[in-house]
Amino acid sequence: MLILGIESSCDETAASVVKDCREIRSSVISTQIEEHKKYGGVVPEIASRRHCENILGVVRKALDDAQVTLADLDGIAVTYAPGLIGALLVGVSFAKALAMSAGKPLIPVHHIAGHIATNYLTFPELEPPYLCLVASGGHSHIIEVLSYTKFHVIGRTRDDAAGECFDKCARAMGFPYPGGVHIDNASLSGDPKAFRLPHPAVAGNEFDFSFSGLKTNVINLLHNSEQKGIEINRNDLAASLQATISEILTGKTIAAAKALGYRKVAFAGGVSANTGVRSALSSACEENGFEFYMPEKKLCGDNGAMIACQGSYNLLAGITADESLNAVATLSMEDI
Ligand code: KG4
Ligand code: ZN
Repeated sequence: MLILGIESSCDETAASVVKDCREIRSSVISTQIEEHKKYGGVVPEIASRRHCENILGVVRKALDDAQVTLADLDGIAVTYAPGLIGALLVGVSFAKALAMSAGKPLIPVHHIAGHIATNYLTFPELEPPYLCLVASGGHSHIIEVLSYTKFHVIGRTRDDAAGECFDKCARAMGFPYPGGVHIDNASLSGDPKAFRLPHPAVAGNEFDFSFSGLKTNVINLLHNSEQKGIEINRNDLAASLQATISEILTGKTIAAAKALGYRKVAFAGGVSANTGVRSALSSACEENGFEFYMPEKKLCGDNGAMIACQGSYNLLAGITADESLNAVATLSMEDI
């Protein structure tokens, strides 16, 4: 089975051909980061315009690199939710036209399900059920992966996502967009105990997250120091922030696994590239005797292979769409 996956939900135009669910035959990613950097974040209209310009070339290259033609495909998968609406619409319209003209099934894929699927691409033996922490620029979720296509969200962020917290704090610290990776690098030469940062309390669901208090705390700390003329060691603050986010994500994920009786834990999303969170979660799983899975680093950020992989499982489960498929900016995984 050969599936083409198309991703355009944010600032990466990506396409990939995946064979038999888990074998990546090609993966092409055209990133717009350099352009959005000038504005300190993603400018939605610019993102849509760049997707529009790049998508045909990216898809063509994915097919060429995989040495396949449209006729060889068994289906065309596309991210239809959630994300920037104008950006999603480019991928959805393109995939729809391609699928209809080539007479191939059109497969709708939820972006977060795609991130989770990066673990199938990394670990050929991994099968549901398991518990997955998904942390990206727009999402922080603890999810029960009940089957390849059925999900139950048991914890979500009440405000900012973990990646957003990394990025906004990084910006206040003077790092370029997207700041997560710069915090990661700066942490390597910083003291994680230099600053005591808050672990926000969340009333109600103990598995929900809240990162806006932590973000505000870091921003206030920087502003107050600036006003008083005190210089802050950026590496120490980066290391302290990374350690705090790692503790929050790890603590809740392990508690959820214990409460629900999961002994298999996975990690996914852009933040799963973070060295600190990877090692904290991996060690905590080892201490508790849990199996732990995380994607290889090149699959952590948005890519087409994760959409093609999840699209393959969707097709096997009979999840396809017709010409009425539309893009959806916000959509819970339980509503797919
Ligand atoms: O999954 P992704 O590529 O896009 C969304 O679906 O949102 O995630 C992007 C997020 C950004 O916030 C970025 O700063 C963060 O993932 N990120 C990192 C690292 N690499 C990417 N955060 C912390 N450490 C990293 N090494
Ligand atoms: Zn993503």
